[in-house]
Amino acid sequence: MQNIYNFSAGPAMLPKVVLQQAQEELCDWHGTGMSVMEMSHRDKDFTAIREKTEHTLRELLAIPKHYHVLFLSGGATSQFAMVPMNLLGNKKKAAYIHSGQWSKKAMEEAARYAAVDVLAQVEQRNGIHHLPNINDLPVTDEHAYFYYTDNETISGMQFHYLPQTGNVPLVSDMTSSILSKPLDIERYGLIYASAQKNLGHAGVTVVIVRDDCVKPVQEYTPTMFRYQIHIDNQSCYNTPPTYAWYFLGLMLDWVKQQGGVSVMQQQCQQKTKRLYELLDNHDFYQSPIAPADRSHLNVPFTLAKPVLEGAFLEQAKQAGLVGLTGHRSVGGMRASIYLGMPEAGVKKLVEFMQNFAEKNK
Ligand SMILES: Cc1ncc(COP(=O)(O)O)c(C=O)c1O
Repeated sequence: MQNIYNFSAGPAMLPKVVLQQAQEELCDWHGTGMSVMEMSHRDKDFTAIREKTEHTLRELLAIPKHYHVLFLSGGATSQFAMVPMNLLGNKKKAAYIHSGQWSKKAMEEAARYAAVDVLAQVEQRNGIHHLPNINDLPVTDEHAYFYYTDNETISGMQFHYLPQTGNVPLVSDMTSSILSKPLDIERYGLIYASAQKNLGHAGVTVVIVRDDCVKPVQEYTPTMFRYQIHIDNQSCYNTPPTYAWYFLGLMLDWVKQQGGVSVMQQQCQQKTKRLYELLDNHDFYQSPIAPADRSHLNVPFTLAKPVLEGAFLEQAKQAGLVGLTGHRSVGGMRASIYLGMPEAGVKKLVEFMQNFAEKNK
């Protein structure tokens, strides 16, 4: 089998050893004679799996006891609604940062339940995108929470600092960046991430929420959209996405074996640095993002001769480098480099890009 490096934005490349472990355990988990897929979510073996998964996540991210960890279905998109439904309480307003397409979707959803105050937004100057400064914004006690997207997966922009929001809980969508850096959890009210980038495969969404942030909900709020129900039932109110939850546990064990989130951070920085250096030192390629705001997970780029895009993608594919097409809304190219992408994959991509530029200059 050819070594394929998959740069797609999610579902995305996973560590081969984790896939192999899942394969070995697929039909017979630890001598039970059964696949995890076949186990009841209330079975003692599955209970052991979910408890271990939560324990490892708490350990890796140093999550304190007064934070709940939930394993939900519905993807990150459901969180766009669940956050306002459960955090507004008596308040009517929430503060949002409009940094790209994912925050925009979150704001549109929140606007069904709250007055959305857009405190800052992304800017474009001379064709280069800049994130806004999110410190010293007019956040007030009228805001139920302050929401931002840590890493905008489509545009490839990432906040590299945490805003000061006083007593107003900070909420962060970390779908494409969780586990790629250590977090000071106590600075957040709520963090969420769906799994299909850094946490495994699609199906499960992790929510980490401080206990006092969960407020009483409106009478009409559907049961499945209430955090309290999931807290009271250890995320097993209904049948949870059991296999995705198990696979997440394997990913977490792997991260731990690699040395934890600080090591992941070094690797993510190292991998993307290689690519950004190429983009900055070669007239053939451009990055549309201001250096200070560049993502360590998603690297969009364009070719000086856009007419060559088709040839670039085709030849990359032949070289085993796939998933490089930019998001349909922005065009160009994008290399998504999550935890499961080995350094060798990025090295190969950079070499391919150097050769392609040389041949086509
Ligand atoms: C930052 C971000 N938020 C939210 C989503 C939506 O996630 P889901 O498809 O799990 O609903 C994505 C998906 O790519 C994302 O990148």
